Amino acid sequence: MTTLRTTPDAAPIGRPAGRPVNPLRRMPAEPRDHLAGTWRQARPARIRKAFEVAQGRDPGGWHVVGGSPDLGLTRSVTRTVMGREVVLWRGENGVLQAGPGACPHLGALLEDCEVMHGQVYCRWHGLALSEGVRRDWLTFPAHDDGVLLWVRLPTEGESLGDLPVITSRPPMHQSFATVITLRGRCEPQDIIANRLDPWHGTWYHPYAFSDLTVDDSASSDEVLTVDVAFRVSKRWGVPVRAEFTCPDARTIVMTIMDGEGAGSVVETHATALGTDDQGKPVTVMTEATIAHSPRKGFQVARAVAGLIRPAVAATQRQLWVDDMAYAERRWLLRDRGEVYGA
Ligand code: FES
Ligand SMILES: [Fe+2]
Repeated sequence: MTTLRTTPDAAPIGRPAGRPVNPLRRMPAEPRDHLAGTWRQARPARIRKAFEVAQGRDPGGWHVVGGSPDLGLTRSVTRTVMGREVVLWRGENGVLQAGPGACPHLGALLEDCEVMHGQVYCRWHGLALSEGVRRDWLTFPAHDDGVLLWVRLPTEGESLGDLPVITSRPPMHQSFATVITLRGRCEPQDIIANRLDPWHGTWYHPYAFSDLTVDDSASSDEVLTVDVAFRVSKRWGVPVRAEFTCPDARTIVMTIMDGEGAGSVVETHATALGTDDQGKPVTVMTEATIAHSPRKGFQVARAVAGLIRPAVAATQRQLWVDDMAYAERRWLLRDRGEVYGA
C-alpha cells in the first residue's frame, strides 16, 4: 500500500482495516502570499489531451436524471434532458420506468402524478400510462443503479447502449451515499473539463484542499493520480491519494485509493437540460459521493459523518458553486470565440 506524504511526525496513512488511527494531520493553512501558484503544472496541452480522450468515450445515450431516493413508489417526477420532457415513475416491484413527460391525451405535464399498480395516472383526466399501452407514447429505457437514476435517449453522435457505464463502487452495505445537483449555464463538457484540471484545487478552493500534487509517474491521459489533503479546518486536513477517470464523456469519477475512506468514490455526471430563454445552454451537474469505510454498522455512519462527510460532502456545494463558475466561464469563452492556452 502506498504511504502518503505526511508531516514528519505523522503515522503512515495506509493501515489494516479495523485498526482506527486518527487520520487528521496538522496542516496549517499557508498564507495566500506564501502559497505557490500551480499554473506551471496546469499545462493547457496536457489538460486538453485528457479532455479529448474523455470526450471520445461514448455514453451510449444514457443520461443521469437524479438520485435514486428522489423517486418514491407513489408519485411521478419529471425531468428535462436535451430539451425533452421525461416522466419517471416506479412500476411494479419498484422498477424504474421512463416515458415522454407530456400526456398523449391533451399534453398535461406528468409531474407529481399518482402511481398505482405500476402505472402513472395523468392528473388532468386520469389516463393510465405505462409501457406498451399507447403507440403514440413510447417509453424510454431506464436504469436505477441504486444511487442514481438514468434514462436513455437518442443522442447525436452516440450509440444506444444496453446499460449506462457504471463505475466500480464500494460495497453499498459499508458505504454512505449522498447526491447533490446544481445547474449552470454551460455544456456538459465544461463540467468535465473543470475536473480534468485538478491543479486549480489548492489555489481556487483553499478552504477545501491543500498540499495537492499530481503524481506524474502514476498519471496518463486516462488517469490523473493526485495526492491531496481535504481540509477540515484552518489547521487540520485528511490526506488521501485519489484517482480521476472518465468512464464516459459526461462523467468524471474520483476514487480515493489510499487514506481515510479508501474505496470511496465521487461521481460527477453532467446532463444537458436544454437552453434558457436567451438560448444559452443549461447543464445539470449531479454529484454522488459514495463514502466508504470498512467499519461496520453505526461505525460506518460515524466514521463517514465524522470525517469524510465534513471533508467532502459538506464542502461539495461550495466547491461546486466555484467550479460551476469555472465551467460557465469556460463556456462563455468558447461562445465568444476566445481561445486561451492554445
Ligand atoms: S391530458 Fe392527460 S388524460 Fe387528459
Ligand atoms: Fe474545483
